[in-house]
Amino acid sequence: MINSVTLNNGVDMPLLGLGTMQVKDIETILPQAIKLGYRLIDTAANYDNETEVGKGIRASQIDRSQLFITSKLKIQTNGYDGTMKAFNESLERLQLDYLDLYLIHQPYGDVLGEWRALEELYRQGKIKAIGVSNFAPFQLIDLIMHSDVKPAINQVEIHPFYQENRATVYNQRQSVQTEAWAPFGEMLGVLQQLPTLKSIAETHHKTVAQVILRWLLQRNIVAIPRSGDLDHLKANLAIFDFTLSATEMDLIRQLNTHHSTFIDHLTADGTEFLSKVN
Ligand SMILES: NC(=O)c1ccc[n+]([C@@H]2O[C@H](COP(=O)([O-])OP(=O)(O)OC[C@H]3O[C@@H](n4cnc5c(N)ncnc54)[C@H](OP(=O)(O)O)[C@@H]3O)[C@@H](O)[C@H]2O)c1
Repeated sequence: MINSVTLNNGVDMPLLGLGTMQVKDIETILPQAIKLGYRLIDTAANYDNETEVGKGIRASQIDRSQLFITSKLKIQTNGYDGTMKAFNESLERLQLDYLDLYLIHQPYGDVLGEWRALEELYRQGKIKAIGVSNFAPFQLIDLIMHSDVKPAINQVEIHPFYQENRATVYNQRQSVQTEAWAPFGEMLGVLQQLPTLKSIAETHHKTVAQVILRWLLQRNIVAIPRSGDLDHLKANLAIFDFTLSATEMDLIRQLNTHHSTFIDHLTADGTEFLSKVN
């Protein structure tokens, strides 16, 4: 049983889900993951897999109301009209009639125009919760100050090397739930070699991956690890039966390098690159 968190609009969201970016054969993996207990599924127009995710959901034969489906606005979309069109195209590909969560993928371009469209779709009941991704505190407050509906979620890069404390602290101050993308920073091989994490894992008879997911859970952060491996999918769910001590949480805090293992969203080069990424 996966624990849930209640978002600022009253919607419940599982604290652990499945990332689908670049998962090979997601159409076959998804029904198996759902059978194991996954309910939160994270996709995006830019992952180019919404059609396969939709097929996987239908193949699982689970009742739609049991799932929490997230997608994200195509990064190259701009403005109100473009967002309305892009959202309907995502629904069409997924073959769904509503989404549980829809995010502005990157904080660039006509964010306010895009948000107006999300607010309208939210009011129409086509999205149960609306949010953002990769927003720094100054971008989040700008949006909040110029909108009617507050974002429910800010999905940002978080893992032991990049703990994003500024974003998490600020999200919390604004009652915006933090969600971690790349909980392993796509660097699990390196993280598994760190004496701190190895020792904590041994203490609890768990793996380093499970310790990292548990660390996020205890920080009340939603995590969406990606896996296309059945054993890993199973292992990533087994994090609700142990507790990290305050000392262990502090030891993990000391691994923070304060740097992204991907791209710095706040640089001109990062902005230019991410605005074009497909
Ligand atoms: N909003 C954004 O801008 C943004 C950006 C990037 C990602 N995301 C979302 O976040 C999700 C997760 O991030 P990510 O895909 O970049 O990376 P990640 O989840 O940090 O790492 C995925 C890697 O970890 C491996 N793995 C997973 N569980 C494991 C386990 N228990 N033991 C050993 N290896 C394990 C996977 O391999 P196996 O397949 O072999 O298990 C895969 O190679 C994405 O899929 C996507 O949905 C969002």
